[in-house]
Amino acid sequence: MGKWWKKAFGYQIYIRSFKDSNHDGIGDIRGIIEKLDYLSYLGINLIWICPFFESPMDDNGYDVSDFYNVSSDYGDMSDIKELIAKAHQKKIKIIIDLILNQTSDEHHWFQESRKSKDNPYRDYYIWAPPRIIDGKQTEPTNWASFFGGSCWEYDQQTNEYYMKIFSRKMPDLNWKNPKVREEIINIAKYWLDLGIDGFRLDAVAHLGKSELIDSTYQTSEKYKPEWEKYSNLPIVHDYLRELNQKVFSKYDIVTVGEVGGRALVEDALLYVSPKRKELDMVFNFDHNWCNNGWNRKKGEKLKINVPLMKEIFNKWQSGLQGKGWNAIYWLNHDQPRVASHYGDSEYFQESVKMLAVCMYFMWGTPFIYNGEEIGMTNPKFKSIDDFKDVSIHNQYRINVLENKQDPDDFINQVSYSTRDNARTIMQWSNEEYAGFGKAKPWNMINDNYPVINVKDEIEEENSILHFYRKIIDIRLNSEYNNVITFGKYQQLAKEHSQMYLYLRQYRGKKILVICNLTCEKVKMDELGYKIKKIILSNYERKEVPFEFASYEAIVLEVE
Ligand code: GLC
Ligand code: CA
Repeated sequence: MGKWWKKAFGYQIYIRSFKDSNHDGIGDIRGIIEKLDYLSYLGINLIWICPFFESPMDDNGYDVSDFYNVSSDYGDMSDIKELIAKAHQKKIKIIIDLILNQTSDEHHWFQESRKSKDNPYRDYYIWAPPRIIDGKQTEPTNWASFFGGSCWEYDQQTNEYYMKIFSRKMPDLNWKNPKVREEIINIAKYWLDLGIDGFRLDAVAHLGKSELIDSTYQTSEKYKPEWEKYSNLPIVHDYLRELNQKVFSKYDIVTVGEVGGRALVEDALLYVSPKRKELDMVFNFDHNWCNNGWNRKKGEKLKINVPLMKEIFNKWQSGLQGKGWNAIYWLNHDQPRVASHYGDSEYFQESVKMLAVCMYFMWGTPFIYNGEEIGMTNPKFKSIDDFKDVSIHNQYRINVLENKQDPDDFINQVSYSTRDNARTIMQWSNEEYAGFGKAKPWNMINDNYPVINVKDEIEEENSILHFYRKIIDIRLNSEYNNVITFGKYQQLAKEHSQMYLYLRQYRGKKILVICNLTCEKVKMDELGYKIKKIILSNYERKEVPFEFASYEAIVLEVE
């Protein structure tokens, strides 16, 4: 106990869309500096900044061409140093993405690697010769890429394939090579020595790859999405222990691994058990898809799958507590906006506030995603040109151009889940370009910025923004700080099909969180606890109601 990051409240910044300080249409580091006062006002004390390194921006910076430099889109090293210093003055810590699975194909390691089979950098990446099947040259395995198509790309120069589990411009690093691990260790040290406070470890589950044997998945797809071939393999833990021993343990920092996909609680424990000395916490994706989204009929509203969501929350809260630490969040730059995904447009304010209560009184270090605190929503995509994400363009090429899916159908299908949902421009005000800058931004601005924006929500007393500020303040600064941080989590009314209830308790203090996850009104029986105080209510209740309204949420101190 006592590690600073247990009492942190994180805020993720997608730098490209956050704030444009020099009016070239692209968010930048000085834009973040300009908004530090706002972040203090919001009350958070930790920011995670998405990649700002030199990059051809195939995947908006997750394709790095120089880990030791800042992309000119975003500023320069002196800007970063100033940001670190100014954030620290305001008691805000900074973590950045450590991108370990791949580089850009424009990184000089890869430029060298592809030159010849005996190049000293050849083994920095994963190369394999073609196979000949039925007289035809084929990829080394039939594995799929997360971004569509094969996970291999042919390179004519040496007549071999390189592995790329994301985009073709993102070749996977070969972690078996000790030199690669040494490079990453040096990169990590470099940034820590500059004063950052830790890392979010990008795609960390995928560093180990299984033997190059075909997947036997029986699917109609040509390339098989058997992610287990390169997810959460035992060897990843060896790599992490090495990183921990050589770097992480030498600094007072926090490390958060991205282990989404199909990681189970048991897998997560391997990463976060303190005695294993790997990572401090991980992001899992289990709660990201708890609705009827994928198989919804045309025109049908999105609806939370309440039993599933409750089960998942309970599984992760109970499964990790006492054994490691947890990270809690609704969305990041890879998921839809929570307000659209799980919120209800007919009860917009109520549902969005309820979702905030539901998540951020749980156990673990919270991370909110820029714009979440004002209730930003998914935009309306009209044509393929509205999408910026490389993975959507890959899928479009395969599904629409090659396999002739109807383009409107395709857009309909991906709109609900696309990563572009979270990447529209941050809505600062109702002014031109939503107050982002004075030039036309690189990406869409959601049409609703005249009503959903920071400036107006600062002025409105009952806004979503103020509600988030209250939650952050209660969590970090109130007498409930310890019970929310350390308190034991226990789910109540487990079988209830609408309400999600949980108790947190620590050293005699108890809080009870009650959320109606549906639009239906719900009568609740006697709670079984004596109510001491209403800590927070999205309906501004002065008394606990007998019947809970649509999406009502209430936080009580009880005994
Ligand atoms: C992670 C990032 C995502 C990126 C991928 C490859 O999943 O969150 O945005 O595309 O890794 O680096
Ligand atoms: Ca700019």
